[in-house]
Amino acid sequence: MVDARVCQAMSKPALGIRDPFFLSIVADVRQGLRRVFGTLNAATFPVPAGGSAGMEAAVANFVQPGSKLVVFAAGYFADRLSAMGERHGACVARCEKAWGEVFTAEDAEAILDREKPDVVAFVQAETSTGAYQSGRAIVPIAQRHGALVIADAVTSLGAMPVEMDAVGIDIAFSCMQKGLSGPAGLSPISISPRAWQWLEGRRSQPAAWYLDLKLMAEYFEPPHVYHHTPSPPLYYALQESLRLVEEEGLECRWRRHRRAGEQLASGLQRLGFQYLVEDEANRTWHLAVVKPPPGVNEAALRKRLLDRHDIEIGAGLGRLAGQILRIGVMGPLATEGSVEQLLAAIEDCR
Ligand SMILES: Cc1ncc(COP(=O)(O)O)c(C=O)c1O
Repeated sequence: MVDARVCQAMSKPALGIRDPFFLSIVADVRQGLRRVFGTLNAATFPVPAGGSAGMEAAVANFVQPGSKLVVFAAGYFADRLSAMGERHGACVARCEKAWGEVFTAEDAEAILDREKPDVVAFVQAETSTGAYQSGRAIVPIAQRHGALVIADAVTSLGAMPVEMDAVGIDIAFSCMQKGLSGPAGLSPISISPRAWQWLEGRRSQPAAWYLDLKLMAEYFEPPHVYHHTPSPPLYYALQESLRLVEEEGLECRWRRHRRAGEQLASGLQRLGFQYLVEDEANRTWHLAVVKPPPGVNEAALRKRLLDRHDIEIGAGLGRLAGQILRIGVMGPLATEGSVEQLLAAIEDCR
């Protein structure tokens, strides 16, 4: 759900892309993004499209034809990362587990010792399964092998810890429409100095011109060389989303999402729903991925919720389509009152 303040911010007049006031908004957005990503990375800015564009920018820039890319794959979005790696010419090796599982340091050790990759990619909050993987089990081992680490933070940013610098992630990308409670349309990305240095020395050009991060970055620093035309209303939205995070405090915001998730979990379990991710410690707080109780049809439940209560919840993706429900309590919805309302509506529609 887009926060009301964010909707209002988008209605301000559009400005030119080199208007000094617009450039001050761009600078403010970049600083707010650093805080929410948990990084000091200078190279932090929005990629001008949705989360998949951030993903493709990460892959297209840091993978070259012939690079060895290891993907930790236990869900729909990790499969998307692998597919992009293949399209950009990488030799992709997958560390696979059942959907809903997370990876241990032993898993990482085994595959990285064997494959000796140039780049490693994992999904921090796998939206298809509700599994959260901070990266702490994977990243130190990848670093030991000298590999660059890409993290998909599309669903974690703003609601759960990303902590790029503390974890040691080199490249993280995200979106606006999940933990930041904004509209879709920009994909914040952040790149470590080590990864940026690698990019500076890269000999071949990335196959995607629009997503070439070196070209893109020229707009974000003086003299602000034109690369693409940013959309001012989306920047106003992102600035307001980041202000909301700032006012609440990032850690308070994480705690609010955690409390809402725990409240939702106890209610859903009481109603007979079963979490796909068994261990509570590995679950996303703000996204419940659950199997409905026996006899409850997930599509019929979703339709009744929408028809009777104007509440939309997500269906399963990929191989989980038709089997599970994906229920988000993010941003303004992560409150005790809205979780209560949601649980009452689910009880009514079972
Ligand atoms: C984990 C994850 N990665 C990537 C994406 C792609 O983002 P978008 O749909 O904004 O392109 C999503 C979208 O839900 C996601 O959940």
